[in-house]
Amino acid sequence: MNITIVGPGAIGCLWAYHLAHHGHQVSLWGRENLSKASIQLDQNSPVSLAYNQVSELQNADLIIVTVKAWQVEEALRPLVSHIHSDSMVMLMHNGMGTASWLQQTLPNNPLLLATTTHGALRVANHAFNHTGVGVTHLGGINTSGKQCSFLAEVLQHSLPDVMWCEAIEQALWNKLAINCAINPLTAKYSVPNGRLADEEYYSQLCNVVKEVHLVMQAEGMCIDLAELQTKVDDVVRLTANNLSSMQQDIAHHRRSEIDFITGYLLSRARAHQLELPYNQALYNDIQRLEQTFEQEK
Ligand SMILES: NC(=O)c1ccc[n+]([C@@H]2O[C@H](COP(=O)([O-])OP(=O)(O)OC[C@H]3O[C@@H](n4cnc5c(N)ncnc54)[C@H](OP(=O)(O)O)[C@@H]3O)[C@@H](O)[C@H]2O)c1
Repeated sequence: MNITIVGPGAIGCLWAYHLAHHGHQVSLWGRENLSKASIQLDQNSPVSLAYNQVSELQNADLIIVTVKAWQVEEALRPLVSHIHSDSMVMLMHNGMGTASWLQQTLPNNPLLLATTTHGALRVANHAFNHTGVGVTHLGGINTSGKQCSFLAEVLQHSLPDVMWCEAIEQALWNKLAINCAINPLTAKYSVPNGRLADEEYYSQLCNVVKEVHLVMQAEGMCIDLAELQTKVDDVVRLTANNLSSMQQDIAHHRRSEIDFITGYLLSRARAHQLELPYNQALYNDIQRLEQTFEQEK
């Protein structure tokens, strides 16, 4: 397939490398002024890929957008006129809240959302490490997108495991719940994920999860509270030494994805007239920190 990756960062280049390695014609679209880029994953030989080539974008069968949630509009808006209506467009980021903009902007394209638990890290310019093997869930969000289940098989050949979801919202909510629970707390206290199991933080974690569960129920997601808490506890335990992306963003004084994680949760809570004091307080804390970074600039 002809595949363009928009947002060639850690996750984008992880996919770009594996897709190219498995015979796909992969190109990158990013913010650098280049016509080709050589990317390296772990100790493998670098692969050279076309970069910001309009013809590649126009001919793409699949466009995978791997920018951060708050970068989606800014990244895609200038590209819309070059995207053929047959191209499948798939967003792959943490958080929720970009789907309706995508549907309004590219109403005639097959549209998909994906979420991944692979870990990837930029170690140098154009060099990345695959830091954790995970699972990718994907599914369509419009009628033509829902007919693209074959994509799961295509992606599975390149970077397993990949699962097709008839209802991608459930997978996205499951991931959102884990991100709401772990990211703001680890960012606020600047601790690795495993510390949330400590007595000092655990009751706060449980309060956040209870509120997330209320919204998930109101949204029609089927998961019971004990099951959700167990999922969160498992991630805390299995990623005990990891620093969450929000912890790293806040520690490096960068904008985080809070608006598309806890912010999205709060917006759905408002739609159901639910109040979430614990999540609201965490959202305010992270926003306050981000505002101080803005003032530093
Ligand atoms: N990394 C992980 O382990 C991991 C795991 C699971 C999920 N995720 C999620 O995956 C998403 C991507 O994360 P990441 O770690 O890959 O982030 P990242 O390394 O910052 O990658 C984002 C890339 O998008 C590029 N970009 C930003 N604005 C752009 C624009 N207007 N046009 C084109 N490219 C643009 C950035 O360019 P610059 O280099 O110029 O900033 C960067 O290369 C996030 O939602 C994250 O939460 C990440």
